[in-house]
Amino acid sequence: MTWSVDSWKARLCAQQIRYDDAAGVEAAVAKLRRLPPLVTSWEIERLKKLVAEAQMGKRFLLQGGDCAETLADCQPDIITNKLKILLQMSLVLVHAGKMPVVRVGRLAGQYAKPRSKLTEERDGVVLPSYFGDLVNRPDFTPEARHADPRAMVDAYGHAALTLNFMRSLSAAGFADLHHPEYWDLAFLSRADLPVELREEYTQASQRLAEALHFMEALGETTIDDATRVEFYTSHEGLNLHYESAQTRAVPRRKGYYLLTTHLPWIGERTRAVDGAHVELFRGIENVVGIKIGPKVDPADALSLIERLNPNNEVGKIVVITRMGSAHVARALPPLVDAVRRAERHVLWVCDPMHGNTISTASSIKTRSFDDILFEIEQTFGVHHDCGTFLGGVHFELTGEDVTECIGGGLTEEDLDRNYASVCDPRLNYRQALEMAFRVGQWMKRNRPRPTSPP
Ligand code: PEP
Ligand code: CO
Repeated sequence: MTWSVDSWKARLCAQQIRYDDAAGVEAAVAKLRRLPPLVTSWEIERLKKLVAEAQMGKRFLLQGGDCAETLADCQPDIITNKLKILLQMSLVLVHAGKMPVVRVGRLAGQYAKPRSKLTEERDGVVLPSYFGDLVNRPDFTPEARHADPRAMVDAYGHAALTLNFMRSLSAAGFADLHHPEYWDLAFLSRADLPVELREEYTQASQRLAEALHFMEALGETTIDDATRVEFYTSHEGLNLHYESAQTRAVPRRKGYYLLTTHLPWIGERTRAVDGAHVELFRGIENVVGIKIGPKVDPADALSLIERLNPNNEVGKIVVITRMGSAHVARALPPLVDAVRRAERHVLWVCDPMHGNTISTASSIKTRSFDDILFEIEQTFGVHHDCGTFLGGVHFELTGEDVTECIGGGLTEEDLDRNYASVCDPRLNYRQALEMAFRVGQWMKRNRPRPTSPP
């Protein structure tokens, strides 16, 4: 079957967004096709090289950001705080894991959401679900929930604004963020933190502070890889009108690049091997993420990996497993084993968020900090037992002081205080930082043996 930027249109599209304005879609797509790309093929190839190194056990990947980024959150302090927490987490991981970290934000384009139900009912009124700001708006009115093709262009603009600010902050080196006194380590004195953990975290943070001071004294630029502030973007490639509009050939390179983001991923609900999403993604040169949940058939996952990466290129595929703490011990080993036996090159990343969403008695969507920790710990263990290694972690988090996940300092009663997510619950700043300390401890114990390039 020959591939083209539009060949996905002949395939069944899960989570199909229903536009009733075909001319509007055409106009939006035509406009997006003319606009300059958000990222370049050079950056994409550089990320592929970093992911290839991570597949060899020489780097660790940290991916994180909102479940659903919103246009309203395109504000300097919110963006800065998101980059700050990702940067701080990465420094904790660099220090504990003794290896460089590839930082990938779920940002500058994480505007489209798959939904378990295509419609939502409230008091007998049925409207389309909210599919993210790239498609419609969250308010429960027919106007807001109407899929508006112009939102694609608007979202594209906001992604560009976000990325522009990110690039400027990165270029300036985030100098002050390296200062340990700028870190909020208040969680270390939390009463419910077990004494041994407090000890370990305190020591780790003191050593990290010393290391940062030391690096600064040397002049940061001399310790290039450990402190270099390089960020990549990622988002779920859900809306194929939007993604294909920015998929193009570039001068002096072979193939096609999807240029709305460095690392697009295919979600658990859209990864059918013959489906539209896999069709578009099989034709692009980007590193591609695949989310895989506990119901996976390992043979299907292998077909999917082969379809997306027929030449078994190194650095190309990131498998993001999101099994849930209750299923990971059962569901992950057969998958890992099948991929390992087939000698497929993938980077194994754990998303401990999406398999651990629960509802409270008052129907608030939340996640337990302990379940999240448990899934990561189990995932490290499964890889160890299978002779593979965990190469990265994927979180829904924010740099703000939200109250969306329980544990790590918050109880169910806190959820009402500042629940701001328009979709899934995220770790707040302190929860995310504590998570990094914990992952760092496990990285120390589960250090992969680096392999050579195949
Ligand atoms: C997500 O990452 O927000 C998401 C919807 O994930 P999944 O496809 O794994 O359910
Ligand atoms: Co989510």
